[in-house]
Amino acid sequence: MTLHFASRMDRLGTESAFEVLAQARRLEAEGRSVVHLEIGEPDFATPPHIVEAAHQAMVDGATHYTPAAGLAPVREAVAAAQQRRAGVPVSAGQVVVVPGSKNILHFALLALIEPGDEVILPDPGYPVYRSLTEFVGATAVPVAIREENDFRVDPEEVAAAITPRTRMLILNSPQNPTGGVLAESDLDRLAELAQRHDLWVVSDEIYSEICFCDLPRPIWSRPGLAERTIVMDGLSKTYAMCGWRLGYGIMPEPLARRMETLLINTSACAASFTQLAAVAALESPLSEPAVSAMVSEFRARRDLLVGGLREIPGFSCHLPLASFYAFPNVSGTGIPSRELAHRLLDEAGVAALAGETFGDQGVDHLRFAYTVSQADIATALERIGSFVRSARPVATAGS
Ligand SMILES: Cc1ncc(COP(=O)(O)O)c(C=O)c1O
Repeated sequence: MTLHFASRMDRLGTESAFEVLAQARRLEAEGRSVVHLEIGEPDFATPPHIVEAAHQAMVDGATHYTPAAGLAPVREAVAAAQQRRAGVPVSAGQVVVVPGSKNILHFALLALIEPGDEVILPDPGYPVYRSLTEFVGATAVPVAIREENDFRVDPEEVAAAITPRTRMLILNSPQNPTGGVLAESDLDRLAELAQRHDLWVVSDEIYSEICFCDLPRPIWSRPGLAERTIVMDGLSKTYAMCGWRLGYGIMPEPLARRMETLLINTSACAASFTQLAAVAALESPLSEPAVSAMVSEFRARRDLLVGGLREIPGFSCHLPLASFYAFPNVSGTGIPSRELAHRLLDEAGVAALAGETFGDQGVDHLRFAYTVSQADIATALERIGSFVRSARPVATAGS
């Protein structure tokens, strides 16, 4: 039988982190040593009280379908946590629980966007934004995230990208892949643009707890913005729970009801015992110290990695303010970033991602996820340093 795929499959992209991980695993199976700086997944174990809550939930029989938008206590716990964070009222009816926060983006696009509509998204940015936008037949309009602007989107560039067809603006702060954080004034201006042009805002706040600075109030806490914002968040990063698949969205109630129907037609609900573990994650007094310990370790790793990268000839590295990624500029090595990423894996045993896999503006950069121990970061730095020093002489000033 000839396999014939629907044409929409040609518009679906991927996350290169998963491809590079698979390639790194193949090299390891051949006996090679690889330091994994490619995948954005905390290496810590999920805090034990959360694991225990899931175990207890299973023992107590939480092994059945739940209401599509999530169990009531979970939606209440999410609403309370988000209300504390944003300082504006959030009701359980605005919460939709999903198996992984990227479902929220997919459902938002399915529910709100017509083919041919335009969606503004960050470049470089999380690749799923563009992939899902194009999958639903919309036009992705990338707006640059520039190093010289501290890896913040410039609201005036967003303003210039808006046309009569623009329907949605995707924001991500703290940002993957750069670790950039939007300032209060950026959010004020973006909120004003969304109001003036009647745009939906998808605000991906999955890294908001992994932050080494004070974050401004989220965009949806501004007057009128909660009515047009869909917040994407979840447990994956904050509580080292990527494999549990538990995400959620906050949105206006009528949209939440539509998303519920999308859930009924797709995954039905997130796993029931995972949902109950989420209540422990969000409400147990044991969570705060566990999360702070992880965040301070990420901070120590960031300092080690960024300090080390700055010593490597041809590298320069902006200090990321949040998340667990560093996004150094490697143009000074004279080696194109895609080639450098390949060669670091093949020849030096360090897995990283080329910046252009996050969008055209990512060229000349690499993304390193500091989701490994400080000892592994030190090994990676040594390997990258000796690879770059022997691979090609770097032009020095005046030469
Ligand atoms: C910016 C961003 N948003 C969303 C996600 C997806 O998270 P989840 O595990 O909740 O689907 C990721 C995962 O890497 C991410 O980097």
